[in-house]
Amino acid sequence: MENKYLGMTPPMGWNTWNTFNWSINEELIKESADAMVSSGLKDAGYEYIVIDDCWSLRQRDENGYLGADPEKFPHGMKAVADYVHSKGLKFGMYSCDGTHTCAGYPGSFEHEFQDAATFASWGVDYLKYDNCYKPNHMDGEILYKRMSLALRNCGRDIMFSACNWGHDDVYHWIQGSGAHLFRSTGDIQDNWESIKTLAQSQLDKMPFSGPFCHNDIDMLVVGMHGESNDEWIGRLGGCTDEEYRTHFSLWAMMNSPLMIGCDIRNMSDATKETLMNPEVIAINQDIECRGPYIIPHYEKEVFTLVKPLSNGDLAIGMFNLGDQRTEYSLLFWDMGIPAAAGMGLEMHNCWTHGDEGVFTERYVGKVESHGCQILRAKLVKVR
Ligand code: GLA
Repeated sequence: MENKYLGMTPPMGWNTWNTFNWSINEELIKESADAMVSSGLKDAGYEYIVIDDCWSLRQRDENGYLGADPEKFPHGMKAVADYVHSKGLKFGMYSCDGTHTCAGYPGSFEHEFQDAATFASWGVDYLKYDNCYKPNHMDGEILYKRMSLALRNCGRDIMFSACNWGHDDVYHWIQGSGAHLFRSTGDIQDNWESIKTLAQSQLDKMPFSGPFCHNDIDMLVVGMHGESNDEWIGRLGGCTDEEYRTHFSLWAMMNSPLMIGCDIRNMSDATKETLMNPEVIAINQDIECRGPYIIPHYEKEVFTLVKPLSNGDLAIGMFNLGDQRTEYSLLFWDMGIPAAAGMGLEMHNCWTHGDEGVFTERYVGKVESHGCQILRAKLVKVR
């Protein structure tokens, strides 16, 4: 790797799948790259434009090479990559460890080194690697190791996004495979139940995530509001802006990659505000990438996540995934601050952007149903 920092913090970008599915083409990618810059997303830290499934021809050519579908990408993939790069962004693509991708296009099984070289020649910077149509006799761990090795030696820095949905005990071998991120969950849908289920499924898996190898809870549905082409993902589904805010906060606190899934050419002000909150993004991008610990509440769907940041602050997220408004009392003892130490926490609210003051021993607050509070706390001497 030329860039020894590649994948140090969770990647941030946009991916075609959640909203557009099969309906992708050169224009969409170019317009989205334009929007990434003009909307301010790029300045907020979003970097990758990723084409998911359904980009290729149905067959490899006679020499076994993958080719872009000329109806969707008439100038080929290199031209798309060049355009994305001309905007100061990075370009991502998609393949699969099986014989076919999930949507039935050619997969990279037994073509790993050839495909890595093809992607490098097109100027690809990121590869999402799915897990469909894997031959039964093949061990998934071996196939991810293969593609990782191929990418790490293809002559170009390519971030490797392994997407095996948490199967095959992925937590125990993914670090060793060399992947930069690993999908730990099934596919997200544009509804609250899905957000809640995915987040809860990974709360006890935080110790497996860290710098250069991030637990990917799946792409964001923030701002989709039921606008997917795909019925299952959530055509006519959708969440409230507050639920999207909670979703974004969970993903940020849990160190998941922040890959946007909505149509970034048409974002509402509320969507922009959520996706570009610099204080919440800073928590996600903290250089140490420490997984949060959880402080439970007597109500099962209410919990606090605490993440130590590299400058000594604590990021504190109070989440209420339940259906009733709730009150909580956060005891500083649980975060390692005994009353006798003479220390307090100076709290800054990362959604209202206001200072809450200095608190000792406890912080008491209320959280709406499906809501959250994200605080950045600084340790201060109080006596
Ligand atoms: C799988 C992945 C999704 C998406 C689709 C494409 O379901 O988990 O994120 O890439 O395949 O077919």
